[in-house]
Amino acid sequence: MAIIHIIYHSDRGHTERLAEAIAQGVDGIGGCSSRIIPVEQAAEQHVTSCQGLVLGCPTHMGNVSSAMKKFMDEVLGAVWMKGGIPGVVGSAFTSSGALHGDKEFTLLALQITMFQLGMTLVSLPPMSIPENKELGYSHGVGTSVLGRQPSMMPSEDLEVARQLGRRVAEVAHKLYD
Ligand SMILES: Cc1cc2nc3c(=O)[nH]c(=O)nc-3n(C[C@H](O)[C@H](O)[C@H](O)COP(=O)(O)O)c2cc1C
Repeated sequence: MAIIHIIYHSDRGHTERLAEAIAQGVDGIGGCSSRIIPVEQAAEQHVTSCQGLVLGCPTHMGNVSSAMKKFMDEVLGAVWMKGGIPGVVGSAFTSSGALHGDKEFTLLALQITMFQLGMTLVSLPPMSIPENKELGYSHGVGTSVLGRQPSMMPSEDLEVARQLGRRVAEVAHKLYD
């Protein structure tokens, strides 16, 4: 069984909806199981006891939110000091208010930390994932909220999040089962 942990921060619920969709994608792959963990409750054991780790947070000031940064420095920093989590499969997701909103930088900030831990990051290429043609990020999920309530998030964006979960799960399953 490949266990995929989805650790996320969300103030208003948009990023949480992406986390839920990613979990649905994971759970749709046989032999894989997801667990969603709010970043405020996430500890070292959640990082070291999984075969896949997906991190997500809202874009705040063109970067990761402070709750996620605290987790990165305190918890992921401690894991890094002990050798990281080499090979664990991962990817990242974010939401922002504006259409662009500098989401790209948030994804990259999450991902560079994952590389520091030695993780294997999966891509989400729009060429082979038709649902991702409109969002068009090749290395994670980046949704624009544009004043919508969390309940009104576009189904296409949630489908891309499901696809991300599927890809992380499929690769983790191939590597670790
Ligand atoms: C402190 C703060 C900074 C923000 N900075 C940005 C930003 O740089 N770009 C942007 O498009 N939206 C920005 N936003 C809007 C959030 O990214 C957006 O509302 C996000 O979808 C919230 O996710 P959540 O519902 O999971 O908390 C900011 C919001 C806050 C509270």
